[in-house]
Amino acid sequence: MNIKEMLKLADEIVFTQTGQHLDDLQDAILQGTLQRETYKEIAKNFDCSESRIREVGAELWQILSEELGEDVNKSNFRSTMGRLIFSNISKESVAIGSFEKEVVAIGSFNICGETRHSPDIAKPVNHTTSNPKPSQTTHQDLSEMPELGAFYNRTRELETLKTWILEQRCHLMTITGISGIGKTTLAVQLVHQIKDEFEYVLWYSLAPSPTFAEFQEQLIQFFSESEAVDSSRHNRQTLSLIKYLQKYRCLVVLDDVHHLFSSGELAGKYQAGYEEYRLFFRQVEQLSHQSCLLLIGWEPAVFLPKVSPPKTAIFGLQLTGLDMTATQAILRDYGLSEIEKYSALVPHYQGNPLWLQSVALQIQELGESVTDLLPDDTILLPEDLKEVLDLQFNRLSPTEKQLLFLLVKESAPVNLAKLLENSPIEGLDLRNALQSLLRRGLIEKIDNLYRVYPVLRQYITQKPGFFQKPGF
Ligand SMILES: Nc1ncnc2c1ncn2[C@@H]1O[C@H](COP(=O)(O)OP(=O)(O)OP(=O)(O)O)[C@@H](O)[C@H]1O
Ligand SMILES: [Mg+2]
Repeated sequence: MNIKEMLKLADEIVFTQTGQHLDDLQDAILQGTLQRETYKEIAKNFDCSESRIREVGAELWQILSEELGEDVNKSNFRSTMGRLIFSNISKESVAIGSFEKEVVAIGSFNICGETRHSPDIAKPVNHTTSNPKPSQTTHQDLSEMPELGAFYNRTRELETLKTWILEQRCHLMTITGISGIGKTTLAVQLVHQIKDEFEYVLWYSLAPSPTFAEFQEQLIQFFSESEAVDSSRHNRQTLSLIKYLQKYRCLVVLDDVHHLFSSGELAGKYQAGYEEYRLFFRQVEQLSHQSCLLLIGWEPAVFLPKVSPPKTAIFGLQLTGLDMTATQAILRDYGLSEIEKYSALVPHYQGNPLWLQSVALQIQELGESVTDLLPDDTILLPEDLKEVLDLQFNRLSPTEKQLLFLLVKESAPVNLAKLLENSPIEGLDLRNALQSLLRRGLIEKIDNLYRVYPVLRQYITQKPGFFQKPGF
C-alpha cells in the first residue's frame, strides 16, 4: 500500500476535523508510524524529544478516532488507512464541505416517480436480550417489511439463523428457496425477534431493481438522517455505506435479490450494470465490522459451501417446506375441515405454504366434495399457482429448461450417469444446469439421485409441446 496515499488520506481527514492540514511534526509522526518506527526513532529523526512526539501523536489519534468514529492508534493506523483506501471509503469520507449539499440532494431522491419512505426512527427501544450497549438507541426503517400473518413451525430455522447472527456474528447471510416457500415470512419473524440487538435495522426490497448507486444513496440517506437525530454536531458528514456498517451494529435485510440477476441465464448471474452489488457483498463479507446483511431471494447472490466451516463470515439457508402439522393448520385456516381427505393430495405440495394456500382456496371454492372424484395421484394446479411457477420457469436458461424436461420424462429419480447417457446436452453444460436448478431449489437430490418436485412435474407436463418435443 502506498505510504503517500495513506498520508494524503490522513491529511484530508485531519483537515475535515480541524480545518488545518498536517504540520511538519504531525506529518513526520504519521510517516514514521507507517514505516513502523518507534516514537523514539521518530523523535531522533525529527530531532525533538520523545515526550513531545508522544503528546502530538496522542492528539493525532484522538482527531482521527473522532473523525472516523472508531479507535485509531499507533498500532492500527496503518491497517486502518489501508482498509479505508481499499474500500474506497476515502473518496466519500473526505468530501469535506459537500455534506450539507449531499444530504439535501439525497433527501429528495426519487425512484421511478415514487419516493421511498423516509426512515421511521423509533427510539428509544427497550432491550430485552443480550448485552445491549447502555445508551444504545435503535433506528429502524421497516416500512417495506410485510406484516406478519399466521406463522407456523420454523423453530429450528429461527434458532439456526439467530445462532449465525448473534453468536457467530456472521457478516452475510442468504435465505434462498422457491417462490412461496416462506423466506420473507421467516425473515420477518427473525427481525421481530432480534431487532433490538442492533443500532440500525433496515428492510429494503430490491424488487424494483434499483441500480447500485440508487440503492446506496437511499441507504446512506437512512443512516445519515438517523445519525443526525442523535448527533449534537451539525456538520456531521455522510459516510460511504460500508463505513456505516462498520461504525454501527446494523441489520440490513435485502429482500427479492433475484431482481439483480439476469433472466434466461443460470442462477445468480448479475444483470449487466449490477456487478457493483457483488463487490459490495464481498466487502461486507470480508471487511471487519459488526453488522449483518441478510439476502433473501430465489437465487443465491453469493455462493457458499453447503457445510460452512466453523469460523466463517458467511452462511446460507436453503429453505424447504413446512411440516405436516403446519401444513394442516394452513388448510384449516383456508376453511377446509375434512383434512384427512387430502392425505394423498397434500404431500405433493412439499409443505410450500403458498402452494397449499392456492390449492386449499380452490377446494374451498369448488366445495370439498371436488376431491372425491379425483384419482389419488392427482395434483391440482390452480391458475394463480401456475402464474407463480411461470415467473420462475421463464427465468431459466434454455439448458435448464431442456434439462427439466428430461428429468420430468424420467419415471423415477435419476443419477448423473444416466442423465449424461440420455441427454443431448453437452456434459459440462448439463452439470452446470443441474447445479443451477439445485441452487434455485427447483429439483432435489437424494442419495445422488435427482428428481423434479411433483407440482413442478405436473406444471411442466402441462406445458404446450411437452409430449411432442425432446426438449426446448
Ligand atoms: N411459517 C409459515 N406459517 C404460515 N404461513 C406461512 C409461513 N411461511 C409463509 N407463509 C405464508 O405463505 C405465503 C408465502 O410466504 P412468503 O411470501 O414468505 O414466501 P417467499 O418464499 O418469500 O416467496 P417469494 O419468493 O415469492 O417472495 C404467505 O402468504 C405467507 O403468509
Ligand atoms: Mg418473499
